[in-house]
Amino acid sequence: MAHLVAPSLLSANFLNLEKDIMMLNQSEADWFHLDVMDGVFVPNISFGFPIIEKIRKATSKVLDVHLMIVDPERYLERFRKAGADMISIHMEACKHPVEALRTIRNFGAKAGIVINPATPVDVLSDIIGEVDMVLLMSVHPGFGGQSFIAETIGKVAELKHLILSRQLNVLIEIDGGITLQNALTVVDAGVDILVAGNTIFASSNPTETIHQLKFIH
Ligand code: DX5
Ligand code: ZN
Repeated sequence: MAHLVAPSLLSANFLNLEKDIMMLNQSEADWFHLDVMDGVFVPNISFGFPIIEKIRKATSKVLDVHLMIVDPERYLERFRKAGADMISIHMEACKHPVEALRTIRNFGAKAGIVINPATPVDVLSDIIGEVDMVLLMSVHPGFGGQSFIAETIGKVAELKHLILSRQLNVLIEIDGGITLQNALTVVDAGVDILVAGNTIFASSNPTETIHQLKFIH
């Protein structure tokens, strides 16, 4: 499949979110990547239900909700009700990930599992059959605009091998430090969805940058 682009709204203009949402609606962006941070799992606090509910009303594109919160199982139903299509939880933040992933699917959303840069792909071995997507963090979560951790490329290849060896239909998403310079390398390694925040929103022409991320060669 051709890869998808999921702009991270963490780098959008919160004083005029509607303008950025309309830009994304009219762009070739595939998904909206929404980063929810609780100030406990990561050293930052972002946004939650009220913002997601409003974004849901303003777009028909897929809402890809990345939960950087401890014990995410407490809030899965509310994120689904707020409009999430894909809900991804961190392996490191969850006591019973299999149960949580099944709950996400029972609520009718797609289920994603996320691992941090320091977490090996091996930990996914027993859980990979329960997910629609694996999100590999290519920066330490918490902030936009960080530099890509190059070792993540090896993890993409390892994960791709795991998925193919089990004949599963699981997407691979990468998040953090994606630029026009490294996007082709990660797609060639097997990534299906590129998240990009700073690269898109700090560029002079975000619509064109999205186009370039989609058609890198
Ligand atoms: C980091 C977030 C990312 C972040 C990506 O914790 O999960 O989605 O917004 O931003 P960039 O593309 O700027 O690294
Ligand atoms: Zn994210």
